[in-house]
Formats: sequence, C-alpha cells, structure tokens
Amino acid sequence: MSNQREQWGSKLGFILAASGSAVGIGNIWKYPHMAGQNGGAAFTVVYLVCILVVGLSIVIAEFVIGRRTQLSPVGAFETLAPKTNWKWLGFLGVASAFVILSFYGVVGGWIMKYVVISVTGGFKELAGDPDSAGNVFNNFITGTWSPIFFQVIFMTVCIWVIVNGVKGGIEKWSKIMMPLIIILLGMLAVRGMTLPGGMEGISFLFKPRFEDLTASSVVLALGHSFFTLSLGMGTMITYGSYLGRKQNLLNSALWVITLDTAIAMLAGVAIFTTVFALGANPAEGPGLIFVVLPSVFPQLDAGTLWGTLFFFLLFMAALTSAISILEVVTAYFIDQKGWTRKKATIRFGLVITIVGAFCSFSLGGGINITAFLGMSFFDFMDYLSSKYMLPIGGMLTAIFILKKWGVNQFMDELKSGMNKMTISKNLITILLGIAASIVGFIILIEIFDVLFGIKLIQ
Ligand code: PHE
Repeated sequence: MSNQREQWGSKLGFILAASGSAVGIGNIWKYPHMAGQNGGAAFTVVYLVCILVVGLSIVIAEFVIGRRTQLSPVGAFETLAPKTNWKWLGFLGVASAFVILSFYGVVGGWIMKYVVISVTGGFKELAGDPDSAGNVFNNFITGTWSPIFFQVIFMTVCIWVIVNGVKGGIEKWSKIMMPLIIILLGMLAVRGMTLPGGMEGISFLFKPRFEDLTASSVVLALGHSFFTLSLGMGTMITYGSYLGRKQNLLNSALWVITLDTAIAMLAGVAIFTTVFALGANPAEGPGLIFVVLPSVFPQLDAGTLWGTLFFFLLFMAALTSAISILEVVTAYFIDQKGWTRKKATIRFGLVITIVGAFCSFSLGGGINITAFLGMSFFDFMDYLSSKYMLPIGGMLTAIFILKKWGVNQFMDELKSGMNKMTISKNLITILLGIAASIVGFIILIEIFDVLFGIKLIQ
C-alpha cells in the first residue's frame, strides 16, 4: 500500500476514460429502445432532466470524493467518516460491480459473437427477415456453451486491459477506442439519414408522444440515468482517485455527461433512420439491436461492412464500460487488502465470469435458475442493479455529502483545479438535495409496487 498511487497520464486521458465508462451498452442498446417504446422525445426530455438535475451533481460528487481521498469507495468513505457505517456504502458499490459485470459480460459476449457473424457474411441470409434473425438470436443465447465461450473471451480482454494498469491499460485503450466509437457512429448516422425514408426515423425518435409516457417510464428514465453515467457504485470515485489536484472536476463532469448524452442520441439516429428506411419494426424493444438490425444491414449496399462496423463499435463501447466496473473491484483489493493488481484482477475477474455464466444459463442453457420475482437470474441481476443498487448508492452518496462530510469540505476539494468558481455552494446543496429526494421517492414507488402491489402514482 505504500506504493505510489497510479495516476492518469493527461487530463484528456481521464475524460476519455470516464466517458468510456459512461458510454456503453446503455447508450447504444438500452437508450434507443427505451425511447422508442416510451414516447420518443417525451422520454428523452425526462431523461435529460434526470441527467442534468440528478446525474451531474452525482458525477461531480463522486469525482470529488475520489480525488480528495485518493482511494476507491470503501477506503474513501472510511477515510472521510472513520469508524462509522458509511464504509458499507463503499461495499454496496463493490457488490454492485459484481452484479452488473456478471450480466454485462454475457452481453459483451453476445456482441463479440455478432461481430463474428457479421464479418463472415452471416447476416446475408437474414436480409429482410426479422423472424429468422430472431430465431438465430434466441437459439444462440439459450444455448449452453456457445454464449459462455464468447463471454469468457470478452471477460479475458477486460482482465487483460485492467492488469495493464490505469495509464497503460484503461487510459491507453480509452484514448484509442472512444474517438473510434464517435467516428463510426457518426458514419452510421450519416448513412442512415441519407437513406430514402431515413428521416422518418428521426421524427419517431424526436417527436414527443406523451400518450406513451407513463409513470413507469419516468422511473425507467431515472434508473437509466444512473446506469448510463456509471453512477452509484463508485466507478467515478475510483476513476477520480487517480487524479491530481489540477484537474477541473466541474468541467470534466460536464464533458462526461455531454459525450454520454450525445452518443446516446447519435446511436438513436443511426439505428432508427436505418430501421425506418428499410421498413422494419421500430418498437421491437430489446430485440432492436440483435434481431432487427441484422435483418436490416444486409439490405444496404456494403451491408456486411456496415453491420460489422456497428457491432465492432458496440463491442468497444461495452469494453470501455466493463473495464471500469472491474476496476472498482480490483481497486478495492489493492487499496484495502494490499493485493497486487494482477492477482486482484485475475481472481475476481474469474469469480464474476462464473456468476455471469449462471446468468447466461438462466436464459435457457440447461441449468434451470429462474423465478426471482418471476424473472430469469439474468434479468434479475439487471433489475436489481439498475432499479435499486445504483439509485440507492447515488442517493446515499448525496446524503453523505449533505449530512456527514459537509458541503464546505466538498466545495474546498472541488475548488482545486478551477480558476474561477462557477458553481455556488447553494446550487450544489440544492442539486444534491433534489437528487436525494427524487431518487428516494422513486425507490419507494418501486418498492410499494413490487412488494405490496400498491401503485403510489399511476
Ligand atoms: N454506463 C455503462 C453503460 O451505459 C454501464 C455501467 C454501469 C458502467 C455502472 C459502469 C458502472 O453501458
């Protein structure tokens, strides 16, 4: 532990790594189908409000806590509030990392499989036939060993990046992959918009349909704002802990939320313009990416190329997020237990891969693990993390600053690296207060609904 703590090599490197964590399957897979099914622009407006009011203040909060303590979550809360129960908030983060990465790694494997199918021209026979594409997808994910094979490869790549360290692994790869993701997605969006009929996709995504926006869409938007910004489990605390005093944290946080939101929108544009131009079903839901797109891409000129580019960029987005989740676990064992980076990453990468294999099996691959609140183990892990663990983690982080650590101390750390204080103490207090209250309220609604069947709002 006496070793010098690793540090990011540059300001830009940190911003790309943190936005690499934020930009992931959540942006390219979840956001477009959620918006498609929950009222288009009506959903997007609610989502943007959540990002600005709740997300921004918690991103800043996590960066500040990490940089002040130079420690990952458990050590960070222990340092700021010694001998209290606040360290459990850090443990909640480590637990969330296990839960999220277990299913995230499985989806990462699916994406790799789709890169392979696309490169080898496998989408061609699915052209214009979403039913066959649906069968291919279902047969694959309900298989026993094939999805595990790809999940293991995905997790191995993650482990390899993390073993190479903060600067030599995470930062290096984020600097290569983030610009590539933006360029490829931009190309796909332009391609989609220039297809005849493509612009209808834009009005589907950006025209408000308030009749499709329900109370549960609002809950969904809030939960998703945590997931998409990687908040509530200490990822941003951990990344912040590798920073020096010169970084402007407010600026960095604004960069992260802007890039994350812009990439989600760009993904929506790329997907819906293509889907509309070729007359496929836009309200397909979660199957949009793995079922609709494989039947749509081969209908384009150079379809194999476009399909491959899409799944490859999705793979990079998933990877830069997955490594940030694994880093939370690794950093805990380095900081608190004095383990080496290599030992911590390999051991716990392996444990998470094994839990993930059970997520995959639960979709039908032989071992019958079903019925967690009527969901598969896979869906349950997703539900547990995005509806409870992350929002609760985020809410408690806000309460921690307001009630325990103190906004004055917080402002003191935030100041460092800023030439001029462009955000006031009052505004921070109000934002954190609103964040904690809204999240608390939404969690209550969800708990009443699930446990007692009582709908507090319709
Ligand atoms: N933000 C990532 C995404 O949008 C997921 C994630 C959640 C990453 C929590 C880290 C921590 O896909």
